[in-house]
Amino acid sequence: MTAPAARPVPRTDADPAWLPPEAFRALGSRRVLVCGTGDLTDTVHGEVDAACAEFGGTAVRAAVADHRPYDRPYDLVLRLDGTADGTAGGAEHRADDEAFTLVRERGRTTVSGAGGRGLLHGLFHVVRLGEAAFGADRPPVTHRPALATRMLNHWDNVAVHPVMGQVERGYAGGSLFWRDGRARGDLDRVRAYGRLLAACGINAVCVNNVNVHTTEAHLLTDRIGEVAALADALRPYGIRAHLSVTFAAPLVLGGLGTADPLDASVRAWWAAATARVYAAIPDFGGYVVKADSEGQPGPFAYGRSHADGANLLADALAPHGGTVYWRAFVYNHRQDWRDRTTDRARAAYDHFVPLDGAFRDNAVLQVKHGPVDFQPREPVSPVIGALPRTRIAVEVQATQEYTGQQRHVCALAPMWSEVLGFRPGAGASPTVGELARGGLVAVSNAGDDPYWTGHPLAQANLYAAGRLGARPGADPHAVLDEWIELTFTPDTCPDPERLRAGLRAVLRGSWRTYEKYTAPLGVGFMVQPGHHYGPSADGYEYSPWGTYHFADRDGVGVDRSRATGTGYAGQYAEPWATLYESPATCPDELLLFFHHVPYGHVLHSGTTVVQHIYDTHFEGVAEAAAARDIWTSLAGLMDGARHARVAERYEEQLRGAREWRDHINSYFFRKSGVPDARGRPIH
Ligand code: GCU
Repeated sequence: MTAPAARPVPRTDADPAWLPPEAFRALGSRRVLVCGTGDLTDTVHGEVDAACAEFGGTAVRAAVADHRPYDRPYDLVLRLDGTADGTAGGAEHRADDEAFTLVRERGRTTVSGAGGRGLLHGLFHVVRLGEAAFGADRPPVTHRPALATRMLNHWDNVAVHPVMGQVERGYAGGSLFWRDGRARGDLDRVRAYGRLLAACGINAVCVNNVNVHTTEAHLLTDRIGEVAALADALRPYGIRAHLSVTFAAPLVLGGLGTADPLDASVRAWWAAATARVYAAIPDFGGYVVKADSEGQPGPFAYGRSHADGANLLADALAPHGGTVYWRAFVYNHRQDWRDRTTDRARAAYDHFVPLDGAFRDNAVLQVKHGPVDFQPREPVSPVIGALPRTRIAVEVQATQEYTGQQRHVCALAPMWSEVLGFRPGAGASPTVGELARGGLVAVSNAGDDPYWTGHPLAQANLYAAGRLGARPGADPHAVLDEWIELTFTPDTCPDPERLRAGLRAVLRGSWRTYEKYTAPLGVGFMVQPGHHYGPSADGYEYSPWGTYHFADRDGVGVDRSRATGTGYAGQYAEPWATLYESPATCPDELLLFFHHVPYGHVLHSGTTVVQHIYDTHFEGVAEAAAARDIWTSLAGLMDGARHARVAERYEEQLRGAREWRDHINSYFFRKSGVPDARGRPIH
């Protein structure tokens, strides 16, 4: 029998992000045994080999059956228990496959994985622990991701879209996967990406945009080989590929006269197409579908429900173990602002709650975390708690479409963590993190930029998406600290405490700072139309998109109460329905999302709405300036190029924050006629 081989660590010129060589120092300076056979164990072996070559340790590999190596003095044993290494076949994400147990006793740390994926996650756990993995004894603890699916949705187009470009809402250069209509073929970069993702806990990637244009549609059929090449590159790091498909595929690709989900020929077409996908990619995860949404085709054209639509694809995937992720982002995008009864925030609940119980087991309803569209502040979507018989995945947006487009620092872990910790029901009812049985999905913020995410600090959002998916209850600040330790390796810096403190200071409060200088009190939007960067208070106010704030000379905000408004507040269970119903009990930060109030309305904080707007906008700019100054003071504590890239972006953030402040403050000053109580100039 030939000895199992190490898989070389993928090489790339891109930034090592949270896996710089130094992150492996503790592991790489030790005597390590890797035990087991299979693809993922080969990956673990390769990681250990590379670390030991760098830091002087020794790496030994043994097959599972060989027990003798245990007698030797190893510091770390990474052991595959059982034979299920896990890469062959098996399309379904199961948390048990990713479980590992870590114990330290008698000077040896042992990590055992039930499968190869578990072993791989155990390895990265040891990396995160660093020296602590080799300190005092640790009783055995089994780690298992709380959510079985932690997926990235890449809004990447294969062909450059005339309006949206290569990556829709991408702020990190081009696509990692596609360029000008074809696969890029830079599979080393894709492998390196898969490695980074595995190290933060992502285990699924959807490789193309949810808006499936004609070129992209072909990935499902004649171009499936290109998806298979990506799947092959991602598989060694335990990541399954997924594909966005168009509901109209039987028409567009199959030449059928209909895409009706109840039509027998349509069902047969999907079954055959899906079988061909699995012939190319045996562990293919499944489809992501945006249907009847912003112009995408869907079951409504045939008078069918979204359960009919989702189940069509679920049935095609079921024989292969795949899953359909069906997005709940269905609303009327051709509204009239004069019509106050239509409320975009209501739409997902109105469409999907009546369908609870009608979806197949392998259909997941993928719900944006808020009812509108990834604004810096929204209430948690009422859909999440309202379909107890449906598997829900929660979708967050790592790409910073509405949170500064990776030119502003906006660490989103604290926001996501608030969402995941929210309890849609009363008392000790389950949290969103517990209800998200279908997983956590993040719209990717990565591209072919050397730092992966354009803004080097935006890497923290990609990292947090994986870590919070695996542990939705984790302290978001601890997640950011983890990212800081791995990425900046303070132990190699001349003043580690100052570096840590500085990075914490600029990241932790950055979301709230961003919130302060943009649209106030949960009202949302007020962005420039189309590209969504920078302020435009009335940018969407008279558009068909349904994102209004209704500011007039007397007041601002959307009345979503049951008593006098759109009734949206009534979509929540108690205690939230009652809490949100009245301005007297609605939390300040959501007041204008739920209520239209006069500018003189006094908040719980004791200040009036208009004064709050002025104050927070001045504060937001001051906080952005303070963060910029902290960043400046960190020069010399990290590599110069990274420092310079962020420093440059801080100048733009500060310019942008001032622009927001002046735009929003002067808008409300002009509307209300109320001067700033503190006499500051309003521009
Ligand atoms: C937002 C975004 C679009 C995207 C859509 C979606 O509206 O601006 O670019 O397609 O969300 O989530 O489908």
